[in-house]
Amino acid sequence: MKVDVVIDGAFGDCGKAKVTNSLLMKNKYTHCLRFSGGANAGHTLYIDGKKFVTHIIPIGALHGVTSIVGPGCVLNERTFFEELNEIAKEIPDVVNHVKISYNTHIVTEEHLDEELKESKIGTTRRGIGPAFRDKYSRVGVRAEDISSLREFIIDPYEVLHSSPDNYILGEGAQGLGLDIDFGDYPYVTSSNCGVGAVVNSGIPHTAINDVWMTEKAYETYVGTKEFEDYSDPMLEKIGDLGHEYGATTGRRRQVNYLDINRLKRSVMVADPTHIVFNKIDILREAKSFRVKQGGVVIDLVNEDSFRLHVEHAVGLHRNVIFSDNPYDI
Ligand code: IMP
Ligand code: MG
Repeated sequence: MKVDVVIDGAFGDCGKAKVTNSLLMKNKYTHCLRFSGGANAGHTLYIDGKKFVTHIIPIGALHGVTSIVGPGCVLNERTFFEELNEIAKEIPDVVNHVKISYNTHIVTEEHLDEELKESKIGTTRRGIGPAFRDKYSRVGVRAEDISSLREFIIDPYEVLHSSPDNYILGEGAQGLGLDIDFGDYPYVTSSNCGVGAVVNSGIPHTAINDVWMTEKAYETYVGTKEFEDYSDPMLEKIGDLGHEYGATTGRRRQVNYLDINRLKRSVMVADPTHIVFNKIDILREAKSFRVKQGGVVIDLVNEDSFRLHVEHAVGLHRNVIFSDNPYDI
């Protein structure tokens, strides 16, 4: 068995979907595994020029690859079917490729209602926190308990281990900056967002092959913590040029310069084989190549010196890709 994994080193929205989609087109995966989070995710991708935004359906299903919503995910039955029907308008076959683990926990309508009240940290209001709370309190409802999901239910351990030749793509959600443990608590989501969540889904550690970590040439974050310096007009400009609005909630994302110390810490814990820095074209358009280190803004003279600075920060032995293509890496 061989497994490649796509994670996000920052606060989500760094182009995991784009990288996942590209890998699915390049490599012959037998399975795709969404290994954490729920419909809080907003994964934007393009297939044959057509835009799709997925929330809980693993991207592999859009490519005819057997795709599993893993045990580390939470799923709301109603929004799952809404999303599935929406994708099926373009790709009818998608329904045959989506599988749900019997032990995936359910986001109930009560969980959703609970989040309609004020949220201190600015969640996506997809019932994520309440669903995980009930999971860990051992009072949760699982997919196997929901009759309308029966046709999708599988045993992920059996399916993932069905052949020694299985080649699996692990599709992450959110990012290490939002990880329940590693992130800036309480401004975090309720999942672990790193490779550990893949292993916890029933993948042996020895099977992990490439780990792709997505980053962006600048940082964005959605939530209530103060992240952006609103007195800096350049950050506003970058947000405008980058169309930084959440794919799930439509909220304006806060913007900051790439934080080199944050980046180094993510690289340290995830040890990725590949790092993709997306949206370098936005800095080019803004004519500003700044990074942040220890709270100090460093103005790098041009794109080449920005790239060199970043490559040195992550270590020269890694595959580093700077990408300005919204569709492909
Ligand atoms: P929750 O995951 O909806 O509970 O939200 C917790 C925090 O994570 C909030 O700051 C959200 O904006 C953020 N968040 C959750 N999912 C995503 C995502 O997919 N992209 C970006 N931010 C996210
Ligand atoms: Mg997103």
